[in-house]
Amino acid sequence: MNAGIIGIGRYLPEQIVTNHELEQRMDTTDEWIRTRTGIEERRIASDEVDTSRMAIEAAKTAIAGAGVDPAEIGMILVATVTPDKGFPSVASMIQQEVGAVNAAAMDLSAACAGFMYGLATAKQFIEGGVYSHILVVGVEKLSKITDWEDRNTAVLFGDGAGAAVVSEVSEGRGILSIELGTDGRGGKYLFQDGPYIAMNGREVFKFAVRQMGESAENVLKKAGLTKEDIDLLVPHQANIRIMESSRNRLELPEHKMSKTVHKYGNTSSASIPISLVEELEKGKIRDDDLIVMVGFGGGLTWGAIAMRWGK
Ligand code: UT7
Repeated sequence: MNAGIIGIGRYLPEQIVTNHELEQRMDTTDEWIRTRTGIEERRIASDEVDTSRMAIEAAKTAIAGAGVDPAEIGMILVATVTPDKGFPSVASMIQQEVGAVNAAAMDLSAACAGFMYGLATAKQFIEGGVYSHILVVGVEKLSKITDWEDRNTAVLFGDGAGAAVVSEVSEGRGILSIELGTDGRGGKYLFQDGPYIAMNGREVFKFAVRQMGESAENVLKKAGLTKEDIDLLVPHQANIRIMESSRNRLELPEHKMSKTVHKYGNTSSASIPISLVEELEKGKIRDDDLIVMVGFGGGLTWGAIAMRWGK
């Protein structure tokens, strides 16, 4: 039995904050942000829209797209580092709102690799025959843990949510291979201790460049595939320079890498599902395409998945 994505959705807050607006608020320039990160604008959620609200909207779209009765969902997994409250979990809040009355619900904390951890966990429960449908959500309201006085981090992040229903799919399709990893020694390079995110950008950058390429190659190898088989690389959208280094290592043409960082900034665990929806809407993902997704982030954590698209 193979587990794969049968429905997907996203939510992006309406408010767009451009680099030019940030120029007015702090000592930075549009030119610096664009050339160092590839980001041109990001979405910021209003005070009324908390993490759970974004997650619920994305989840409803994913469930409707999957055509699944919410009562058939066996589990809800939410990857987030910005829950509304310490508890209850965002997953519990979604459970109630979408009517997933039979679902177990929990949040998981693996920072920007969280959606990969969620999909990988869902795969085990589906293929083990425990549940028929699992809702996996990546959602962040990073704006509430961003120090708007710190130009080193404030220009990087954005808010948003992405959700996927994971279920049994036909033979040959679905999640073909996974790789998850953690190096706790690097925890000191990216963390939240107190109200705001703290980051050593250069160290995270070096780690990301190495890890993204390695993990992508590892999942291909595990699936018995090569880089020539990739139809679309969907990397975590943190920095265009990191993304380009993985694309070059995998020798992929520009059109074979998803790029949404310019519009949404770094939305952490939400960036990969948000990008999947974007590419589907553009018609760039078709049934039987080989998709390689790679995430990395605080922990330090990483995760990669090779997936053959389609039900
Ligand atoms: O999801 C995972 C989360 N994190 C990441 O993926 C981050 C990975 N790292 C990065 O993306 C990059 O390291 C950054 C974009 C954060 C920084 O780029 P960089 O090329 O590594 O720059 P840097 O940290 O080496 O800083 C270069 C200069 C510094 O000035 P000095 O010390 O050379 O005079 C910074 O103070 O750029 C300065 N700087 C800025 N200047 C204008 C830092 N932030 C800004 C800014 N505007 N917003």
